[in-house]
Amino acid sequence: MHLIASMYLSVSLTLCFILLAFLPSSFSWSLHPLVVNSSFEHRNYTGISDFRVINRRSLINCPNLNPYRQMTINSSNPLSNEEFVYVTVSGILDPAKNDWIGMISPSNSSVTTCPTSEAYYAQTGDLSSLPLLCHYPVKAQYMSNDPDYLSCANSECVVEYNGNCTVKTCSGTLMFDVINIRTPIEFVFFTGGFVTPCILNLSIPVSFANPSMPLYGHLSSIDSTGTSMRLTWVSGDNQPQQLQYGDGITETSVVNSFSQDDMCSSALLPSPAKDFGWHDPGYIHSAVMTGLEPSSSFSYRYGSDLVGWSDTITFKTPPAGGSDELRFLIYGDMGKTPLDPSVEHYIQPGALSVTKALEKEVNAGNVDSIFHIGDISYATGFLVEWDYFLRLIHPVASRVSYMTAIGNHERDYVSSGSVYITPDSGGECGVPYETYFPMPTPGKDMPWYSIEQGSVHFTVISTEHDWSVNSEQYAWIESDMASVNRSNTPWLIFAGHRPMYTSLALNADANFVKAVEPLLLQNKVDLALFGHVHNYERTCSVYQSECLAMPTKDGNGTDTYDNTNYAAPVQVVIGMAGFTLDPSPNTAAAWSLIRISEFGYARVHATVTELLFEFVNANTSKVEDSFRITK
Ligand SMILES: *[C@@H]1O[C@H](CO)[C@@H](O)[C@H](O)[C@H]1NC(C)=O
Ligand SMILES: *[C@@H]1O[C@H](CO)[C@@H](O)[C@H](O)[C@H]1NC(C)=O
Ligand SMILES: *[C@@H]1O[C@H](CO)[C@@H](O)[C@H](O)[C@H]1NC(C)=O
Ligand SMILES: *[C@@H]1O[C@H](CO)[C@@H](O)[C@H](O)[C@H]1NC(C)=O
Ligand SMILES: *[C@@H]1O[C@H](CO)[C@@H](O)[C@H](O)[C@H]1NC(C)=O
Ligand SMILES: *[C@@H]1O[C@H](CO)[C@@H](O)[C@H](O)[C@H]1NC(C)=O
Ligand SMILES: *[C@@H]1O[C@H](CO)[C@@H](O)[C@H](O)[C@H]1NC(C)=O
Ligand SMILES: *[C@@H]1O[C@H](CO)[C@@H](O)[C@H](O)[C@H]1NC(C)=O
Ligand SMILES: *[C@@H]1O[C@H](CO)[C@@H](O)[C@H](O)[C@H]1NC(C)=O
Repeated sequence: MHLIASMYLSVSLTLCFILLAFLPSSFSWSLHPLVVNSSFEHRNYTGISDFRVINRRSLINCPNLNPYRQMTINSSNPLSNEEFVYVTVSGILDPAKNDWIGMISPSNSSVTTCPTSEAYYAQTGDLSSLPLLCHYPVKAQYMSNDPDYLSCANSECVVEYNGNCTVKTCSGTLMFDVINIRTPIEFVFFTGGFVTPCILNLSIPVSFANPSMPLYGHLSSIDSTGTSMRLTWVSGDNQPQQLQYGDGITETSVVNSFSQDDMCSSALLPSPAKDFGWHDPGYIHSAVMTGLEPSSSFSYRYGSDLVGWSDTITFKTPPAGGSDELRFLIYGDMGKTPLDPSVEHYIQPGALSVTKALEKEVNAGNVDSIFHIGDISYATGFLVEWDYFLRLIHPVASRVSYMTAIGNHERDYVSSGSVYITPDSGGECGVPYETYFPMPTPGKDMPWYSIEQGSVHFTVISTEHDWSVNSEQYAWIESDMASVNRSNTPWLIFAGHRPMYTSLALNADANFVKAVEPLLLQNKVDLALFGHVHNYERTCSVYQSECLAMPTKDGNGTDTYDNTNYAAPVQVVIGMAGFTLDPSPNTAAAWSLIRISEFGYARVHATVTELLFEFVNANTSKVEDSFRITK
């Protein structure tokens, strides 16, 4: 205990507390050199070695002489881009509760020791109560997920004596949701649970039929004209590909990637991204369609004759800035939910129901664009989870502009220049985020921008980068908001990740409020939207914790803020799109008008004179709260 405590004390008291809280109480062994002297040592344990997976606990082959045991995989071989793979273990003499199967990739990953896995998980901000795996299989399941396994409902007689069965074995099958992550996968059958795992069997490795397949295309706007759209996609191939759109126009992709060396870490706090969470992202292609019409439908496909083509996808451009009307969806803190019963390093239970609801909205043709304001995938240093996230949002993000803001789980790390020195990005430090979601920002690691769509000017900031009064970002916010022509875009919406007002007070930074809130008032921001806290909370027209105006009820009983007589911004927390919900306190300060803890998203319709904001419950489609702002 002492060693760990003194090691991390210098980092921050909070961090130290988190780490200590997650060390097993029996923690007594001396620290592994990987922990003490990380960045140098990691080089040999990560990209350039095969010890990438399950690499932090002593793993042995179980002393199990069962000659009947077998493991088989039922899948296409080679694997398609997306399929359920069935893994069967048979010939089991003693089915046990703590038998489990992990999916690892690349398939030649191997095994070493792992003394402090829980502390490593805590580094990513992952304080969930999943059975945390010692290391990082892409996903894992207990055999007991097959109800027939423990009960031995599928038995086989392997030794008969005089017509009587003297040795009988059992079997079970698990289903895994597998997507094309480019590197071959392998299944490993363990017993001993997640804490003292030992290996019973390894499956044969299975490869993807086309690791170069262009996948997970998603759109974003590059400016306020509504006539240009960027498409970004992933492929295992580094050769430029084509984006074909409209009437036979072709644009060649710019190819990006990032390597383990681009991940951040710290001597005091080695990161998962640079070590056991790394997974090769392949290549991220991006190309811009130009000459489109705003608020119109077009189609595209992407790829090449060499690596294959995506389906043809029809999408809609957003309305041009300064036009009369905009319908958009906005939320924070979504992440991803697996489509199988697996445990993964970081699961957001509401993400699946929310994306299904978003898809319904897009199918209904009522969505011009989507904004996701921070805490995007929660891959947090376990990079393969970006692929799963991109697959999840693909049905919506391939059809309307998907604009993002950076959150703590994309950016923060010790000694990395983030405002908050929590290890919440797991060592990603914004690099994967910026590569997957190129936004119209001023430069690298400057993830702030503005964009106009219809009657709205959006000023999108990074709460994780310096916003203090003399900072570069502050100067940008100030000039961006001062330059808004309110005859052209009557509505000014300010968005970022960490809130100014939340009843879960520890999540609001008084310094941030002190520095930036005056700019909101000066520039007559109508609406300030934030995530980070995993619930929904709406304020009065608030400034310095005082209600400068209250909404009144319209004829339908809907709260209406009259901004013809502007008082202050309305601030709303909308971090309820997937991450396990935070509670909503029953009592709160006077500025807090509505608090709801349900999974969902915000649906906004802005005309020139009215902005209607609705919080939609993803499960029930019920509007849980709504309000109007009028001009
Ligand atoms: C870490 O490793 C480097 C290279 O071997 C060595 O020079 C340094 O002294 C080590 N630091 C610690 C704290 O062990
Ligand atoms: C890394 O591996 C190389 C090659 O096997 C070896 O020479 C070097 O000493 C190793 N470094 C560490 C820190 O283990
Ligand atoms: C594992 O596979 C990768 C890619 O297939 C290869 O580059 C690497 O050398 C392999 N490692 C070992 C130890 O075989
Ligand atoms: C599984 O393990 C058993 C016992 O070690 C061995 O006999 C069998 O060949 C293995 N099967 C596979 C598919 O690895
Ligand atoms: C593979 O699994 C599917 C779905 O359970 C099943 O229909 C099929 O028969 C299986 N094939 C083999 C060869 O086991
Ligand atoms: C087989 O089992 C039956 C019923 O349990 C028993 O009566 C019989 O004696 C057994 N036969 C032998 C050869 O053990
Ligand atoms: C909401 O939907 C999710 C997934 O569809 C489900 O697990 C959950 O139980 C639902 N919650 C309610 C309150 O209906
Ligand atoms: C502001 O926008 C209006 C409406 O689009 C336009 O007529 C006016 O020229 C703009 N003013 C400036 C200073 O650009
Ligand atoms: C009340 O709701 C109805 C139906 O949605 C709508 O037509 C009407 O304009 C609303 N009234 C006000 C004052 O918003």
